[in-house]
Amino acid sequence: MSAEKLAAEFGIRGALDFVPVGDLVKAVVSLDGMQGELFLQGATVTHWQPKGERPVIFTSPNAIFAPGTAVRGGIPIIFPWFGPNRREPKAPQHGFVRAAPWQLERAETSRPGEVTLALSIEAKEPMSPFWPEPFRAVYTVTFGPTLSVTLAVQNRAGHEIMFEEALHTYFAVSDIAKVSVTGLAGTTYIDKVDGAQRKTQDTAPIKLTGEADRVYLGTPRQAVIEDSEWRRRIVIEKDGAASTIVWNPWTEKAAAMKDLGADAWTGMICVETGNAADNEVRLAAGGEHRLSTRVAVDAIK
Ligand code: BG6
Repeated sequence: MSAEKLAAEFGIRGALDFVPVGDLVKAVVSLDGMQGELFLQGATVTHWQPKGERPVIFTSPNAIFAPGTAVRGGIPIIFPWFGPNRREPKAPQHGFVRAAPWQLERAETSRPGEVTLALSIEAKEPMSPFWPEPFRAVYTVTFGPTLSVTLAVQNRAGHEIMFEEALHTYFAVSDIAKVSVTGLAGTTYIDKVDGAQRKTQDTAPIKLTGEADRVYLGTPRQAVIEDSEWRRRIVIEKDGAASTIVWNPWTEKAAAMKDLGADAWTGMICVETGNAADNEVRLAAGGEHRLSTRVAVDAIK
């Protein structure tokens, strides 16, 4: 649907509009000083900035907004496999919904200061030769003083299905050298930059000093990014998500990614919530699985 038609059907005066970006359409939320943006392709949130705050979500200045291309930044939705497909080596990384068209179902301001969008994607016929299951997913995003996102996956097959998933959130930080992550102490992680070895996270706050690509398993409900330069704490809470993934490509890999580049990577860290590797979801026929993340920002006093 065109931006114009979406605005006519779903627009909310003074709160929600739709704008074309090349061949794509972006929902733009602006309410009481809070801003948010979401591309309908991939249902990808690309911006959230509570009133009086710096942006909390990072989107690369070199991101490519084009049909069939995933956004470098924001919150790409990873489903139904995370990273390379363990059973199908030829499959593209991170599944197939992050650059697929999603349908806007609903837009509302049900609570003061909040705008909620609900989008869906449905595969009656197989969407991918690598994962031919019928399913429907509904993604609900509430932009407000906090950011809440929920991915609900419904199994429409007549048998159990298995999948991985992640809300691949890129957070904006002052400088990767000035941030630490807490909340993962004592958990086991798969270190993808060290031969997928399994390691135990120690109790010190995590400070990255080089490329990091870690799948933490069985993680607690809350993780926190402390940003000593911007004097803020990003508090990430999750439900229905057993894994947390921490990723930053660092100098060389970032420079080789044309949609990221040599400079921007120092201003981001991915702390993703999901169910990956050992935490893969098994969902009974007709069942629904919900994965939620809530992001809040606090000042460090
Ligand atoms: C992370 C993975 O979640 O996403 C990394 O753990 C991967 O291995 C990164 O490199 C980015 O993936 P992509 O497909 O968006 O370049």
